[in-house]
Amino acid sequence: MESTVRLAKNILVTGGLGFIGSAFIRFLFREGLATGRVLNVDALTYAANPANLEGAVDPDRYRFVHGDIGEPGLVPGLIVEHAIDTIVHFAAETHVDRSILGPEAFIQTNVVGTFRLLEAVRAQPQVHFHHVSTDEVYGSLGPTGLFTEETPYDPRSPYSATKAASDHLVRAYAHTYGVSTTLSNCSNNYGPFQFPEKLVPLMILNMLERKPLPVYGDGTNVRDWLYVDDHAEAIWAILVGAARGSTYNVSGATERTNLALLRELMHIVAELTGAESADLERLITFVKDRPGHDQRYALDATRLRQDLAWSPRHDLASGLRNTVRWYLDHPGWVAATRSGTYREWIERNYETR
Ligand code: NAD
Ligand code: DAU
Repeated sequence: MESTVRLAKNILVTGGLGFIGSAFIRFLFREGLATGRVLNVDALTYAANPANLEGAVDPDRYRFVHGDIGEPGLVPGLIVEHAIDTIVHFAAETHVDRSILGPEAFIQTNVVGTFRLLEAVRAQPQVHFHHVSTDEVYGSLGPTGLFTEETPYDPRSPYSATKAASDHLVRAYAHTYGVSTTLSNCSNNYGPFQFPEKLVPLMILNMLERKPLPVYGDGTNVRDWLYVDDHAEAIWAILVGAARGSTYNVSGATERTNLALLRELMHIVAELTGAESADLERLITFVKDRPGHDQRYALDATRLRQDLAWSPRHDLASGLRNTVRWYLDHPGWVAATRSGTYREWIERNYETR
């Protein structure tokens, strides 16, 4: 690979109040990588939570902008006003079940929103664009094999179809207009601050509250899990070190069936809270399967390890333990997220555009 060193000084992050975007911003400040300005453009959907960045940023270098990436003119104006040299694009509708119930918001943000950002960098080609995407674009695997960067796209849910469309747009803009891009496709993330509609936080909180643990289908579907901070570090490595136009898979090569993951979580919850494993086990409830449920995701991240010397710092056991502990230690965050109190907090603290 040609060697690349890209300076990322004034960075515009989209979706930086969500789960992974906020982890990336915390990572930038924690590691001293925020050397210029960090601008966070977020529409404050249900998935955003301003508390995710409380105390984690340097107010002199950080600015929040409440806005929708689909709004024409918003990002072009911000690029000029803040001398932005880099965009890291997280903003998306991300929950597969929601995409099945109502795909339109997914098309609007994931496709049209990404298109607007690409138009902005087409007009201002000094800006580098990193697109954060998912392994779901590759489809579903049988019991063996791994997705590589060369695997043909085969998205099967409205969510993954919109992410695939956005990936294609990114590559098309790089190829046709010479826009400077990099792209990453990551496996399932877990960790602190994840909205409790996704498997890991939902199961942890239901265990703590002794509520049913809803397992879709027979629980044999396989996901490949990565601790969110390892994803943030991979994005940074790609952003500053990868060749223009390149794509990288990001994965910790940690496959588990949903049932196996649930049992690991039960073990940790039992250990940290003194709960009886048998009581937790009894909460498992098999429910109707997700329509079109992808059977297995597993990613080959050899290219990222070889080209950019990235490897995950957390194994599943330590990552899950950190995560359970975080949810145990942050009942206020959980209660606010679930009750809608943080919506009121948003109204008080951020003007609506
Ligand atoms: P999330 O749902 O937690 O957060 C999404 C954020 O984007 C929210 O803060 C929301 O307010 C914001 N947003 C939504 N629509 C917007 C719009 N139109 N304009 C501006 N902001 C908007 O998502 P996440 O889990 O942090 O995922 C971030 C990115 O990573 C997504 O692009 C997702 O496809 C990708 N990804 C996620 C995972 C995962 O396991 N969660 C894995 C691989 C890739
Ligand atoms: O693979 C990366 C993707 O991972 C991201 O692109 C998505 O944004 C993210 O939401 C995630 O998608 P999944 O559909 O894999 O994640 P989710 O947490 O919704 O579900 C994980 C597995 O657990 C999946 O097989 C469905 C199952 N599941 C999920 C929920 C919420 C259950 O069995 N019960 C549940 O209640």
